[in-house]
Amino acid sequence: MKSLDAHVAAFAEDLEFDLDGRALKLEDIWINILPEGGFHSSHIHPHSVISGTTYVAMPDGASALKLEDPRSERMMAAPARRKDAREDLRTFIYEAPKVGDVLLWESFLRHEVPMNASEDNRISVSFNYGWS
Ligand SMILES: [Fe+2]
Repeated sequence: MKSLDAHVAAFAEDLEFDLDGRALKLEDIWINILPEGGFHSSHIHPHSVISGTTYVAMPDGASALKLEDPRSERMMAAPARRKDAREDLRTFIYEAPKVGDVLLWESFLRHEVPMNASEDNRISVSFNYGWS
């Protein structure tokens, strides 16, 4: 847990949060075992500040994490972006982590795990940090 705390503290620093002298704290941690054909539909993590996942088993064909631009619900009648639009303008970003990677994001960011196309389990450990 200490190494996660250090990653989250560094991320909070990079985000320039004013934590008023209080550290972000680990509130929940759980394991995800996604068999072939399994998926986790789009969601956010309310009541948390930073959410993340570290990866235990990512067999060939295991799905990437799909992150959604939080501005997308405010884009009204705007046309879609070109497929080769630069990354910060894309509606969806796909991150294909390797075993041992730690991905962190702000908890308001909508995300999902598309269907696992591997015959083997995709295994990860997810967590939430809060500020209280
Ligand atoms: Fe999640």
